[in-house]
Amino acid sequence: MSKNVNLKIDGNTIKVPEGTTLLDAAEKTGVHIPNLCYIKGMRGIGACRMCLVDVEGGRGPVTACTAKVKEGMVIDTNTENLQDMRKFVIDLILSMHPLDCMTCTKAGVCTLQQYAYDTGIKESTFTRKDFGYPVDTANPFIKRDPDYCILCGKCVRVCKEQGTNVLEFMGRGVGSKVTTAQDGPLQESDCTFCGSCVDACPVNSLLEADRWRKGREWEYEKTDSVCLSCGNGCDITIKVKDNSIIKINTRADDTSSEKYICAIGRFGFDSLLSDQRITAPMKRVGNDLQETTWEDALKIVADKFKTSGSKTGVISSAGILNEDASALASLAEDVIKTKNIDTTVSLYADADSIRSSDIVDIDKADLIVLAGINPSQWERGLPALDASIRKRVSRGAKLIAINSEDIKAGEVAAVNLIGDEASILAMIAKSLTSKSKKVDKDMESALSGVSTTEDSDNASELLASSKSTIIYCAPSLFNASRNISILTGANVVAVPLEANSRGVITAGLSGEGMTYQDMITGNTDLLYIIGEVPFTQRPDSKFLIVQTSYLTRLAKEADIVLPSATYLESSGSMVNYLGKVKKVNKASAPAGDSKEHKEIFTSIAKVIGTKLKSTKVDIKKAVKAGSKAKLMPFEKQKGFDVDPASFIDSINASMIKGSRLSWLKEALAAD
Ligand code: SF4
Ligand code: SF4
Ligand code: SF4
Ligand code: FES
Repeated sequence: MSKNVNLKIDGNTIKVPEGTTLLDAAEKTGVHIPNLCYIKGMRGIGACRMCLVDVEGGRGPVTACTAKVKEGMVIDTNTENLQDMRKFVIDLILSMHPLDCMTCTKAGVCTLQQYAYDTGIKESTFTRKDFGYPVDTANPFIKRDPDYCILCGKCVRVCKEQGTNVLEFMGRGVGSKVTTAQDGPLQESDCTFCGSCVDACPVNSLLEADRWRKGREWEYEKTDSVCLSCGNGCDITIKVKDNSIIKINTRADDTSSEKYICAIGRFGFDSLLSDQRITAPMKRVGNDLQETTWEDALKIVADKFKTSGSKTGVISSAGILNEDASALASLAEDVIKTKNIDTTVSLYADADSIRSSDIVDIDKADLIVLAGINPSQWERGLPALDASIRKRVSRGAKLIAINSEDIKAGEVAAVNLIGDEASILAMIAKSLTSKSKKVDKDMESALSGVSTTEDSDNASELLASSKSTIIYCAPSLFNASRNISILTGANVVAVPLEANSRGVITAGLSGEGMTYQDMITGNTDLLYIIGEVPFTQRPDSKFLIVQTSYLTRLAKEADIVLPSATYLESSGSMVNYLGKVKKVNKASAPAGDSKEHKEIFTSIAKVIGTKLKSTKVDIKKAVKAGSKAKLMPFEKQKGFDVDPASFIDSINASMIKGSRLSWLKEALAAD
């Protein structure tokens, strides 16, 4: 544990942990030290000189973003001399910055505007310099206007730290410029359009491309929620004006580098208004689907359920909320009386691996192991996990990559092992046990005949010397990975592909009857499908009900289509893969006549003439973390072999097609 240090800042005494910067320490006492290049959570670089402070007994002002607290320090943050120095910095910046605050979209949330106001500078005393750089508007996500750039470097650093490495400084001094490697438009670089640089930029140099005259920041209602588009379940803040979502940001402190969201989470919301959105129930009339009323659609559905026999099936995605899942479980069990219920989770995970995962904090890990998963910001497979691993590695943690293919994350790994993952885990276990004097007999016999390699020895050395290891694994490798944790105490997390896998499993959406595969291969008479699922052909069922937000190819084949609200239009909760319960909050009203899933399930039960037992999930059950690891065979469980990137693309196909994401080359190729 780090020691605490006592110091005085502007007369306030404060105790903070050793290693804290003066800037962060001041923030804790409620004193804001002006800063332009500091990013919370990252090392200060001392570039802008805005954060200069006086240290009693020191030889001159020091930068508060780089200087660390010391016992007994006395700090002044706002002397006349310091104010003059800050004024000079702002004066200089304003000589190279457009002065069009009255029409600038960033006005009101621009740090430069705030500091110019605070220092009382209306116009620069220096000769104005107008660079006239071209504006990059060639993509629908991010507008880059270098004339507004104050060269703080935040965008360059966040992009580098998360491993995308797209932005660079070109040139030196005031004439320098932030560019891509070839100084071309973003789409000609490795940019993933995650928008982290937009969140980091303190001025109008990097902005969402469509923000012009869509209202000022202070006019937006802010709703904190969770992105449910992939297994990461990232925290988001949704900004709404007149019931329309204007923008989505990562839910992190302003100018913090801690959180990340990908292009789907940030820009997919356009699809809420796309022409593929279903805003009214539909029923099949001959070869066509025609809009109808809820009353009519629910009556047809209720009549079908009342008369359907044992060959009734229910399939749901894991992109629904806990309350939806619980209501659906009750509808299936108590009202429809079918045990044929399954979810898309069964395509990539067994329930135990998801339920038994450990609770971890990646920021404390000094060693990360990726076993059988390929998180990638570029292929949009669990991009947030890729970004946080790369961030952690750039801050000193080590990575071991174990995969049957050479994955991109392998480029930052200390040890990159390519081959059969379960066998590699066994080799690493063997290397670990060969250095240990006391080895459990069962483990010894499980590893008899396994030989080690130089790479497995290197990996085992990292594991043996690590203080805090996290193994992120494919659910099919959970048992094999836990064998490593028996030897090292590592935490193991099975990573699912959908956000609320743990929630839907806890809610009981896994019956004892037909499985997902049974149901889509034509064994039902009546099939009820909820959410966007990764298949597009109508299964061979006499009657098909599809409950979804978009007119998917599958919905076009249905007999009844029930329009559901998206997660941005729904409230409830979800459980992420670490067992953390998160609140999902409705940011805008459901489009047209669409309704939240749980409301539709309740209405079906009502029309059938009964009431659902419960729409509540036992949260305590959901967050019960990892059972004790016991030795299991070093094997990959069979039957969970979906390709993560194409699975994630397929469950987000409507969002991608109905939004500016369709512009992305790979999305078009996937169409
Ligand atoms: S959008 Fe993301 S990848 Fe592209 S430049 Fe910005 S931070 Fe880098
Ligand atoms: S574009 Fe924005 S974040 Fe990047 S250096 Fe310029 S002002 Fe800073
Ligand atoms: S990484 Fe996944 S959960 Fe996070 S913003 Fe992207 S799609 Fe949403
Ligand atoms: S914030 Fe300290 S020098 Fe820029």
